[in-house]
Amino acid sequence: MKENLLESLNRELKEYIDDLYQQATPLVFGGGNPDSQIVLIGEAPGKNEVLQGRPFVGQAGKNLDEFIDILEIEKSDLYITNVVKMRPYKINEQTGRESNRTPTKKEIGVFTSFLMRELEIVRPKLVVTLGNIALKCISQDEKASIGSLHGNPIEVEFGKQNFWLFPLYHPASIIYKADLKDTYIEDLHKLKDYIKKSS
Ligand code: URA
Repeated sequence: MKENLLESLNRELKEYIDDLYQQATPLVFGGGNPDSQIVLIGEAPGKNEVLQGRPFVGQAGKNLDEFIDILEIEKSDLYITNVVKMRPYKINEQTGRESNRTPTKKEIGVFTSFLMRELEIVRPKLVVTLGNIALKCISQDEKASIGSLHGNPIEVEFGKQNFWLFPLYHPASIIYKADLKDTYIEDLHKLKDYIKKSS
């Protein structure tokens, strides 16, 4: 049932985006267990995610897998998605190479109402945001910052739904800032205790 609803939402989103950008745009939809009470939300897919059509399969995904192991939860039991479903990228004019970039406010705005509908279908009790973009989007607070809110649950209203939000740093952030890893691990243990207490 939820699978069918998600499929038709994804179809609608693909048509909407292709129409908006006047071209066929590869999208990476959420995946995993739609009956999960826990949803993980990242920023946007990268090159590998677009190639494989699944969220978090590149280097950030490898870090995420390691972190999910700490939670002692099977990845296949979670539902994992992104705020923005297309890859935001820029092209280096000299080399012609593509690289990822942060999604613009406009891109985030385009995808937010679809994310609301996606979460209305999945109906999680707990949403774990990965990084600043997902935190700002789900808390609907532009001033929210992962540096001060990470590792503590907050009750939020998102669209027609209320749930608990647990903000984590983005798993790619430790690729660039190795000193965040201890904090990340600490936050994951807090999340593990929180999940145990609330289940
Ligand atoms: N980073 C994200 O935020 N999402 C992905 O799917 C991959 C990398």
